[in-house]
Amino acid sequence: MRIFTDPAKLSRWTEARRAAGAKIALVPTMGCLHAGHLSLVAEAKRRKAAEIVVSIFVNPVQFGPGEDYERYPRTAKADIAACRKAGATAVFMPAPAAMYPAGHSTYVNEEKLSAGLCGARRPGHFRGVCTVVAKLFHLAHPHFAVFGRKDFQQAAVIKRMARDLDFGVEIVVAPIVREKSGLAMSSRNTYLSPAERESALALSRALEETRAAARAAGAAGIPWAPRRRRIAAALERAGMKTDYIEAVDAETLEPVRTLKPGAAVLLAAFAGGTRLIDNTEI
Ligand code: PAF
Repeated sequence: MRIFTDPAKLSRWTEARRAAGAKIALVPTMGCLHAGHLSLVAEAKRRKAAEIVVSIFVNPVQFGPGEDYERYPRTAKADIAACRKAGATAVFMPAPAAMYPAGHSTYVNEEKLSAGLCGARRPGHFRGVCTVVAKLFHLAHPHFAVFGRKDFQQAAVIKRMARDLDFGVEIVVAPIVREKSGLAMSSRNTYLSPAERESALALSRALEETRAAARAAGAAGIPWAPRRRRIAAALERAGMKTDYIEAVDAETLEPVRTLKPGAAVLLAAFAGGTRLIDNTEI
């Protein structure tokens, strides 16, 4: 497995591999890899990528003031070992100054799908995500890139960006990987105390209950407003602080009033000081 820190060297290598006919997959991550990330590598393998590039970069421009950029877990040695074991063929771990040299002043902004939900709560977040993902697409020359469905809005925004800016990169979205308890895997779970971890289970439980109720109703679906109140009460009982509870059309991310096939429920809530997100599609 190759390890690159220099963007230009990664670019030269992926360009040469692509010219030689190799199918290239990119798995963008911020490190602190868990089974969710490794499932993205497995998906790339399943799709017969000859080269699987995992990028590990805690991207400063997607964190807002007062967010956890400084304390975001950095576990490079373990991440490299995990990538090797999972079958990645290259890891890209640039320094921030290599990605954003002095004077960097160009950003990528998706203006519609990123407006609400996490975009509204974390101004500038998706501008930072789109900018770094666009750079990674240019550097890794992938045929396809694999993202996790836990970041539901992110996947939609990146799909739109790839389409709108003609990247020619297929965006693959892989299922959420959950712990046995139901908690969606996230690098930020490492911040949780045992009590907060217990509270956080309210997210997946509320989603599971909601999905079951909506699916039982079939094509007609169920009204969202009372369900929303029920979820809010469940999160509060568990000691979580709600950031948002939204039902949206899974494609357009526009709010919906009925939970039926084609809708998705997206949650963001705090367990202690840790903001967690989770979602389900009906
Ligand atoms: O989902 C993430 O870990 C990040 O937002 C990403 C896509 C790697 C961009 O920094």
